[in-house]
Amino acid sequence: MTIPAECPFHSRSLPGDGTPLTPSPQLAAWREAGAFMPLDFQDGHEGLVATRYEAAVAVLQDPRFSMRPSRMPVGPPAHGEEGKAESAAVPLEAPGELDASGQASDELNLLNLDGEEHAKLRRAVTARFSVRQARAREPWIRAMVAEQIEALRERGPVVDLWRDYAMPISARTHCHVIGIPEHHYERFVALFVEESTAQQKYDFIRALLAERADSPGEDVITDLLQNPELDRVEVEALLRLLMGAGRDSVAYLIATASVAILTNPEQLAILRADPEQLRPAVEEFMRAGAMFVTLFARTALEDVEIEGTRIPAGTSVSVSPVAANRDPGHWGERPEDFDVTRDAFGHLGFGYGIHGCIGQQVARVEIREAIAALLESFPGLALVDAEQLTPQPFAHPVAVYEAGTVSVRLEAAA
Ligand code: HEM
Repeated sequence: MTIPAECPFHSRSLPGDGTPLTPSPQLAAWREAGAFMPLDFQDGHEGLVATRYEAAVAVLQDPRFSMRPSRMPVGPPAHGEEGKAESAAVPLEAPGELDASGQASDELNLLNLDGEEHAKLRRAVTARFSVRQARAREPWIRAMVAEQIEALRERGPVVDLWRDYAMPISARTHCHVIGIPEHHYERFVALFVEESTAQQKYDFIRALLAERADSPGEDVITDLLQNPELDRVEVEALLRLLMGAGRDSVAYLIATASVAILTNPEQLAILRADPEQLRPAVEEFMRAGAMFVTLFARTALEDVEIEGTRIPAGTSVSVSPVAANRDPGHWGERPEDFDVTRDAFGHLGFGYGIHGCIGQQVARVEIREAIAALLESFPGLALVDAEQLTPQPFAHPVAVYEAGTVSVRLEAAA
């Protein structure tokens, strides 16, 4: 198949008229028209987007597509801008960081690396994010979520699930897994959840490494400090990435799953009747509520043919999890429906393949425990309003949805 030079649906830009749970119909139209569509990325560069499931998976697992930043939508900071405050609303760290000597260290961002360079840094952290490790953290996460439920009760009866529940759960778990002691929680939030400069973040990381050097634990910092393959610059860059990566995404999913079940009473009834159903339902939350409209763009290193489409070397190619997660060619009938009884394993909400999400196992536990505790603690939980029920601007050049306010009443009015 040849790629249409002009998109048959007038626009080659990502449609902004969708919401996380009801994507733009244009994505479905693109998917119907072909596995790959021309796309004008938000930063102005041109490329393709894979909207069908099989094509998306093929791109994500193919080493002939490079993550090298030459094609990235966001470049390193312009000279003199290194000290500028960074937005906290980045789901995964974009390139443009400072390294240990204050220089841009794009080279050490996992999402910018290929091959063995990427594998070496990824290996250094994956053990702490395994299924076994995530299971071992369940009791801690459950107890912490119980504390957040009590905090909600005190704040109620109307609360913002995003700010008052989802964000503290994801930030506290992040600190626990990475190995940031409780007494640094407020500082961590100020630097990594709110805005700060890259320099301030590195100052925090260096002080933390000095503090933790003599107190090993079951956490990422301990692993990195004890890894003989890594130098100090690599350790700092990995921590910089991990402290920002995925934290807002977990909170987003908790908020979005809450909106999905509170706006679908029959699905809520299924989960209330059988809490065991929550485990597989997390996959449906991820499928139907995927926040990435496009993933980080890759570049074809050579001519590649996928699903009958020839992609010339040098082409910038992204993947749309939101579109692929609703591909009827893969999911069968009614992929647009939110159905907690569906077998949704294999969704692309965490990406896939070589750069697939490192934190996905612990994220699953957080989302499940957060939703389970909400349903169990508040039998009359009702949605008042949610920002994400109306279209919002994408939060980042890698087009992602943001959660926004999720206002709920903890007990239904008598
Ligand atoms: C529901 C929560 C999460 C979602 C939806 C999510 C989503 C994703 C996606 C889609 C990717 C692939 C990006 C691409 O291929 O372009 C990714 C990669 C990544 N995620 Fe997550 N993430 C979540 C939670 C986490 C957590 C909790 C952490 C760590 C503490 C984390 C760390 C990472 C890292 C380091 C990568 C880069 C992996 C690599 O390049 O090898 N994520 N995530």
